[in-house]
Amino acid sequence: MSGPSDLAVETHGLTKVFSGRPAVDGIELSVPVGSTYGFLGPNGSGKTTTIRMLLGLLSPTAGSWRLLGREMPGAAMSTLPEVGALVEGPAFYPWMTGRENLERFDSMGPGRPSRSRRARIDDALARVGLTAAAGKKYKAYSLGMRQRLGLASALLVPRRLLVLDEPTNGMDPQGTREIRNLVRELATGGTTVFLSSHLLSEVEQVCSHVGVMHRGKLLAQQSLSDLLASAAPRLRAEVDQPEEAAQVLSGLGLDDVLVAGRQVSGGLAGVPPELCCRALVEAGIGVRMLVPEQVSLEDAFVALTGEGFDVAG
Ligand SMILES: Nc1ncnc2c1ncn2[C@@H]1O[C@H](COP(=O)(O)OP(=O)(O)O)[C@@H](O)[C@H]1O
Ligand SMILES: [Mg+2]
Repeated sequence: MSGPSDLAVETHGLTKVFSGRPAVDGIELSVPVGSTYGFLGPNGSGKTTTIRMLLGLLSPTAGSWRLLGREMPGAAMSTLPEVGALVEGPAFYPWMTGRENLERFDSMGPGRPSRSRRARIDDALARVGLTAAAGKKYKAYSLGMRQRLGLASALLVPRRLLVLDEPTNGMDPQGTREIRNLVRELATGGTTVFLSSHLLSEVEQVCSHVGVMHRGKLLAQQSLSDLLASAAPRLRAEVDQPEEAAQVLSGLGLDDVLVAGRQVSGGLAGVPPELCCRALVEAGIGVRMLVPEQVSLEDAFVALTGEGFDVAG
């Protein structure tokens, strides 16, 4: 059991209705302190709407939420300074350079002595890999560079919680890797990171916990390892008598047994792979290879939603 103070984000029945249609439908988020939580879902599933509500940028139609254990929006003034955020379209001036924008941003924040401003900004720029482009005007920035600057503005002061809406949006693979490393580094430093993504692989690589959004509903919420364990693993084998092997495996209780060339595969359905191996060999079948397949987050997502993951969406 976790108490309220163990949760960095907690929602109850959080709902947003736009013109009669729920964009976010009664979600119950529990984001453990210290976790890196991937808020995963295809485009249009309600991630940004949720994040805007969490940050007090949009009023919920119904429901309640807590950030860092404090009831929102009542505690916004005391809580939000401890929460760094990256949401769509942060207010940067196009004619200012990246550094000038950060200077302006920093000067507006509470408790930021101007004496240490330069060091704070240098550090934030370096962390997001924007040092070399700091003197360029914002309007000349690519989408990826704008994302980096948004992230830098969230990192000017230490935060207990970071809420990032699709932080790698518009970034090339190199930028994506850098953000991934940055998120890991922040998490190691004890910051709870709540990040939304429509990219399964991104969440799979960096997150300790996952919430799966689908059409405004939170379908599942677990540690990544529990979620992967809950998806049915499959066994794949390469054998000299595939049809016979399929019969043996079906007989053992594997489901959805398929043959493709010399390969045979099936859902393990709780049957230990060792048992499959022994049964095949005892049936006189030559086994060249036998592997319990790694279940991917995509498999888990498809199992949960009954739909493929719409990457292009
Ligand atoms: N301001 C708005 N007015 C009306 N509908 C909106 C508004 N913002 C979002 N929506 C709708 O809410 C749904 C969820 O959108 P969004 O939260 O942006 O999803 P995601 O971030 O997962 O892509 C979509 O159907 C979207 O069209
Ligand atoms: Mg979005």
